[in-house]
Amino acid sequence: MVELDVEFIGSYTSEAGCPAANLPEYAFIGRSNVGKSSLINMLTNKKNLARVSNTPGKTQLLNYFEVNKQWYLVDLPGYGYAKVSKKKRELFERMIQRFLTVRASLQCTFVLVDVRHELQQIDLEFINWLGEVRIAFAMVFTKADKLKDHQVEGHVDAINQKLLAYWDELPTQFITSAKSKAGKDEILQFIDSINEKIS
Ligand code: GTP
Ligand code: MG
Repeated sequence: MVELDVEFIGSYTSEAGCPAANLPEYAFIGRSNVGKSSLINMLTNKKNLARVSNTPGKTQLLNYFEVNKQWYLVDLPGYGYAKVSKKKRELFERMIQRFLTVRASLQCTFVLVDVRHELQQIDLEFINWLGEVRIAFAMVFTKADKLKDHQVEGHVDAINQKLLAYWDELPTQFITSAKSKAGKDEILQFIDSINEKIS
């Protein structure tokens, strides 16, 4: 796949401040430390586009990147981070909910889930909320390199069993690794196919 042209546009504290909604956009979200910055760097072939850290809760703004002058990649704040105050957490949650429900040009939200763990209650609640408010989303399983292939399969099956208690159909899913770059082409092709459909 050809190298992407990626430009940082800016960071915003609320939906109201975001750039004009003149390009299709794709948001990335997940629990803190799920590997969101690593995934974004992997997708864009940049070592340090999104900040990778061992300190959870770093990203607290809506970060916009323009890709190939064609679409926006939006790096959303992680949800459910326990170590910030309840008030701050609620503020973030409201900012994220407002962004996702109001932003007209949003095509798909990628929900990142660490494939090593069971589906957490907060992920399930977030996914079910997306369904209730009818926001299009796909799931991205991260850190697949940390397990053996058959373990990845087993974990994905278990997560999907849990989802099927609430959903008739499973969402589009990608198994990824920022280390091996697994899933990269699939996600970029998925985005391209939506862009083509709406252009
Ligand atoms: P915050 O923004 O701090 O909430 O975290 P984040 O979701 O952006 O996670 P980040 O990309 O900073 O990654 C968290 C930790 O997981 C880092 O130590 C990464 O190196 C590691 N990590 C992320 N993705 C992968 C992966 O695919 N494979 C492996 N082995 N490690 C990963
Ligand atoms: Mg991050």
